Amino acid sequence: VNTVNTSMTHYWSYFVKGIKYTVLISLVSSLFGVVLGVALALMRFSKSKILRGISISYTEFIRGTPLMVQVMFVYFGIGVIVNIPALLSGIIAVSLNSGAYVAEIIRGGINSVAKGQTEAAASLGLSKTDLMRFVILPQAFKNIWPALGNEFISLIKESSIVSIIGVTDLIYQTNIVRADTYRGVMPIFVAMVIYFIVTFALTRLLNYYEGKMKHA
Ligand code: ARG
Repeated sequence: VNTVNTSMTHYWSYFVKGIKYTVLISLVSSLFGVVLGVALALMRFSKSKILRGISISYTEFIRGTPLMVQVMFVYFGIGVIVNIPALLSGIIAVSLNSGAYVAEIIRGGINSVAKGQTEAAASLGLSKTDLMRFVILPQAFKNIWPALGNEFISLIKESSIVSIIGVTDLIYQTNIVRADTYRGVMPIFVAMVIYFIVTFALTRLLNYYEGKMKHA
């Protein structure tokens, strides 16, 4: 008879491969997300009505559509013109998505810096660029850190949606193990524990840096 090895430890390499992809996508997308988010937030505060309009429309549209649809749209939409790997599509979609959320976080952070700071800097004759660079952004950064950390944690969890286009992330791998072992629940539990270990470790790391900034 055919026997299947249904032990989770037998399949550990499947989970390891999955979490590697999950972390890779989250990490790269966080980086691009922050870059895009800063750009969008600065556009939002620009004098140009067009730049402000683009930033607002972009953020609203991304927030108003599901990440799942965005992932599918990037993969199959770009696929009409050029074939790009699912992994790259996933990273592009998650980055574009995160940028909108990061923009809102940064906008809130900039607004949270007291108005008096802007007036004081203006009275010193600082240009608008220098005001942003040397007065507002350094203070805003401290305020937005917890929210930004929250966004990084979200990405680790939400990136699981890329499994629908075939990226071999933790959820995709979990489903392979479920099919191979005929065990419907245990692989999901293992995935859940792995996600928690990673997000909890990240929380600790973020808290550590938050503490450091307080003493700076
Ligand atoms: N689950 C929500 C969606 O489908 C949010 C996804 C992205 N969240 C984030 N913080 N970047 O749209």
